[in-house]
Amino acid sequence: MIQKQIKALKDDIGSFDPLVNQGTAPNITIKMPDESTFPDNELGTAIRRGLFLVNNSYEELPDNVGNRLNCTSCHLENGSEAYAAPWDGLTGLFPL
Ligand code: HEC
Repeated sequence: MIQKQIKALKDDIGSFDPLVNQGTAPNITIKMPDESTFPDNELGTAIRRGLFLVNNSYEELPDNVGNRLNCTSCHLENGSEAYAAPWDGLTGLFPL
């Protein structure tokens, strides 16, 4: 049963992104700023707090998260992993 579901999911993903499905997608490395470069001011404090929240979401925000997931359960490597819903460059997209 589960094998059938996995195959159906893989087939479905393949229809969205045939390159990933064929294993020929480019190997992309996303470089995020190192924590040591966060400014030592209010902005840096806000960035550190945000990084903490995305890694400790359900424990820190129990009224907002109804499961035991952190943002980085899906957005791997603090949102820097290609093909795992990366956050790189998002500040340029919002507000939509
Ligand atoms: C269960 C998995 C999962 C969790 C947990 C999750 N996300 Fe996502 N998120 C996704 C997926 C999948 C997308 C869609 C990615 C796409 O369309 O490229 C997405 C999209 C986004 C986007 C929009 C990206 C874009 O390209 O417009 C943002 C911002 C985001 N998530 C932030 C968060 C934050 C902050 C949290 C925690 C509060 C979180 N996500 C938790 C899976 C998740």
